[in-house]
Amino acid sequence: MASVRVNGGGDEGAEAAEQGKISSPSGLPGREIPGGYGVPFISPLRDRLDYYYFQGAEEYFRSRVGRHGGATVLRVNMPPGPFITGDSRVVALLDARSFRVLLDDSKVDKADTLDGTFMPSLALFGGHRPLAFLDAAEPRHAEIKRVVIGLAAGRMHHVGPAFSAAFTAMFDAVEAGLDTSGPVEFNKLNMKHMLDFTSSALFGGTPPSEAMGNDAVTKAVKWLIFQLHPLASKVFKPWLLEDLLLHTFRLPPFMVRRDYADLTAYFAKAAAAFLDNAEKNYPGIPRDELLHNLIFVAIFNAYGGFKIFLPHLVKWLARAGPELHARLADEVRAAVPAGGEITLTAVDRMPLVKSVVWEALRMNPPVEFQYGRARRDIVVESHDAAYEVRKGELLFGYQPLATRDERVFDRAGEFIPDRFVIPSDDDALRRRLLEHVVWSNGPETGTPAEGNKQCPGKDTVVAVGRLMVAKLFQRYDTFAADVKESPVEPVVTFTSLTRAAADYTIVASLALRERR
Ligand code: HEM
Repeated sequence: MASVRVNGGGDEGAEAAEQGKISSPSGLPGREIPGGYGVPFISPLRDRLDYYYFQGAEEYFRSRVGRHGGATVLRVNMPPGPFITGDSRVVALLDARSFRVLLDDSKVDKADTLDGTFMPSLALFGGHRPLAFLDAAEPRHAEIKRVVIGLAAGRMHHVGPAFSAAFTAMFDAVEAGLDTSGPVEFNKLNMKHMLDFTSSALFGGTPPSEAMGNDAVTKAVKWLIFQLHPLASKVFKPWLLEDLLLHTFRLPPFMVRRDYADLTAYFAKAAAAFLDNAEKNYPGIPRDELLHNLIFVAIFNAYGGFKIFLPHLVKWLARAGPELHARLADEVRAAVPAGGEITLTAVDRMPLVKSVVWEALRMNPPVEFQYGRARRDIVVESHDAAYEVRKGELLFGYQPLATRDERVFDRAGEFIPDRFVIPSDDDALRRRLLEHVVWSNGPETGTPAEGNKQCPGKDTVVAVGRLMVAKLFQRYDTFAADVKESPVEPVVTFTSLTRAAADYTIVASLALRERR
């Protein structure tokens, strides 16, 4: 057996690989994992500054791949490091093939790895470990996941109407802003209205903005910040002070206790009927534990996801420009008559809309990081080599590098709107491509289940993306927006919107004729 160190320090890359001793199922050459962790305490701090401020996440990984001869399985430190994290050492998987190990629940244990190298205080979750922190093999995981899968499926028919309300509120506000005061930032509106959307879609009842006013969003975002501050960066200057405040110590949970109590009171009421039913049908899960899980699902999983996903989607549409807008408008308007309601059944018949949404999720998976601990000694294969990982080592995947892998997708770094529109309707080819769209912590061709860690909101998320694109081009012929990239989500600011004519079929056919 090759002498692979278990989370050893120093430059492991310098140690010669004992080729041939790692048994690769595909016959790839065995290599020792290159890279290293450097000097304890000092190197994780230095790497953190590289990661957040000097290089940024993508360059942090790309530069290290370059330094190690193109190897895409590497030993690196992951922030935040000291003092929040006791152990920053991970094995990074930076290509589409090795990344897949993280989706294999027989190989990785995902207990408490949602946020990576640190675990937030349970005081933030009413003392419970929410579903997303449980490993697929824990009995509680199957019990709670069953309930959440049922919730998402059972409420699917509320997604269209709830999103319609959020969309109308957001774009009425964009139009009003453009008319009166100039460019309008989308992110702020998205943040404001998508909390109402998630609560209404999942539970119905009075939306948070009516029950709690603007405080609802403030409290929800504050609660997210208390969990995720070690992963945030470039929020305020000077950066050295930010690094000290956000990345060195945990913000104490008591500072958000009252906000969380208010959110808990809201969801206890909004989800009361669902909790009553669950108490009868799933008596094994205490009501309090399920309530705190539902809060986590609504605010962290769903709202947190949409907060990042929709700005990326609008970003790609803005960058693509009027030609794509006209094609999307034609497709939407051919399927839904002027003034008609866009339903999920209707968007299913819009291949370009569907492709644009998958392509946005491929280019920018909203959750960029996946982690899991090797359940046993395993062999991880990249495209070129096989590496041995020891039981207990923390594996980490930076998903944008996996989903933009040139060995899997042609012109992988480009946003190609038609990528998933397969002209001959060759379903096998589309499936082969969708296998590698893994934003939901599983392939797009897969199904979330009690025994896996795939997002149970997968269909909801794809549906919302499609509704967003379809509604945008039902209402507008085209739009323009400025885009400013920033570490978590791009900031998208609308500068113009061109309303569709009331009888939009005329506009659509004109656009078609002009392009011929
Ligand atoms: C754009 C929105 C969303 C994104 C990007 C997203 C993404 C993800 C990802 C990447 C994971 C796996 C995390 C990991 O273990 O590494 C996950 C898990 C999860 N998501 Fe979503 N999600 C979104 C919306 C939703 C919605 C609408 C729901 C509501 C049903 C939901 C419920 C969950 C739950 C409960 C888990 C934990 C699953 C488990 O532990 O087995 N998510 N999501």
